[in-house]
Amino acid sequence: MTTRRVGVGIVGGGLMGRELAAAIGRWAAFEDHPVRPELVAVCDTSPAALAWFDRVETVRLRTSEYAELLADDRVVVLYIAVPHHLHESLYLDAVAAGKDFLAEKPFGIDRDAAARIVEALDASPDVFVRCSSEMPFFPGAQLAFEAIRSGALGQVIAVDSDFLHSSDLDRRKPINWKRQARYCGEIGVMGDLGMHVVHLPLRLGIRPRTVFAELQDIVTERPNDEGELVPCDTIDNATLHCDAGFPLTLRTHRIAPGHLNTWRITALGMEGGVAFSTAQPKTVHRFEVRDGRQVWERLEVGSQSVFPTITGGIFEFGFADAVLQMWAAFLAERAGALDGRFGCATPQEALAGHRIFEAALRSDESGRAEPVG
Ligand SMILES: NC(=O)c1ccc[n+]([C@@H]2O[C@H](COP(=O)([O-])OP(=O)(O)OC[C@H]3O[C@@H](n4cnc5c(N)ncnc54)[C@H](O)[C@@H]3O)[C@@H](O)[C@H]2O)c1
Repeated sequence: MTTRRVGVGIVGGGLMGRELAAAIGRWAAFEDHPVRPELVAVCDTSPAALAWFDRVETVRLRTSEYAELLADDRVVVLYIAVPHHLHESLYLDAVAAGKDFLAEKPFGIDRDAAARIVEALDASPDVFVRCSSEMPFFPGAQLAFEAIRSGALGQVIAVDSDFLHSSDLDRRKPINWKRQARYCGEIGVMGDLGMHVVHLPLRLGIRPRTVFAELQDIVTERPNDEGELVPCDTIDNATLHCDAGFPLTLRTHRIAPGHLNTWRITALGMEGGVAFSTAQPKTVHRFEVRDGRQVWERLEVGSQSVFPTITGGIFEFGFADAVLQMWAAFLAERAGALDGRFGCATPQEALAGHRIFEAALRSDESGRAEPVG
């Protein structure tokens, strides 16, 4: 197979920008991939964030002006990983410049911003854009997805899709942009974790008609850098009870005691069931009625996901592997070489997620189930 080299530029070299740099450094792990990415440019307004990239020898441009990346022909693909209030303007500028990019979720600070980005993309069909959501690339998540998609569960009667972590359990943790609505968005934790829980249901064709939401702002103040308590006005935990023809429950919790960082999905049907949680990354539970008996069985899954790697098949899979697989899917799809494999979340899926989160905000106001607009 001929391998195409693709120059990559990062806008926002924070937590996730660095994760991409590390993923590109591990690209040799793929048995066979049609694209060879090379990180060539980084933009960040923070000098400290830029300085981290000194360790990546291939980076030839470091700047605080993202316009420089948009104008640079060496940058073929962008990863835009900045706070949510900047998504719309940066994504629209990238579309106008004709640059392909992997966007970060939630793909605009709110539904209207996401709709404007999708509109711009509709008007520029040559620009290839997908939205980041890596958890479905866990092998166990892929197995659960296939079990549901294949129809093996029979009539589906309930789906739970959750992302639970404990990043905010400590009340003394300092405030940051993710804990302030003006930067993170009114949708709060749904902006941080929502794409991760709607990605598989939407890909499976599950469409919530109404949402009844329980939204909790549990910690209302946090210390700033000076130790002074300042407002922390974002939703910490969102529990969405959706009517999708059956109950679809979407939980995005930043304060989930007992969970470090758990993404999980459970689906039950009349003829079978499946459950996977990253808390047990090697294990998928599968249910079926066999010989008139109800049987839950435990399947062991190893390291192999959508794109084969040199990693031993029996070894464990983790977050960094999921990010690597997501990038493999993004670059393969862009090159027209996805070949029916699982692809990244689309802009339309990101917008569909926003519609659910916006209905959740209305439900919280009205105290009733609200239609998904
Ligand atoms: N896919 C995932 O699992 C995952 C995980 C965490 C965060 N995210 C998403 O990634 C995005 C970034 O989050 P993060 O955790 O990396 O945040 P972060 O705060 O660690 O990094 C953001 C970076 O953007 C830089 N920045 C701010 N304004 C900028 C500008 N105008 N131009 C260039 N750089 C600018 C900041 O200096 C910072 O270094 C968000 O959309 C977030 O929701 C995704």
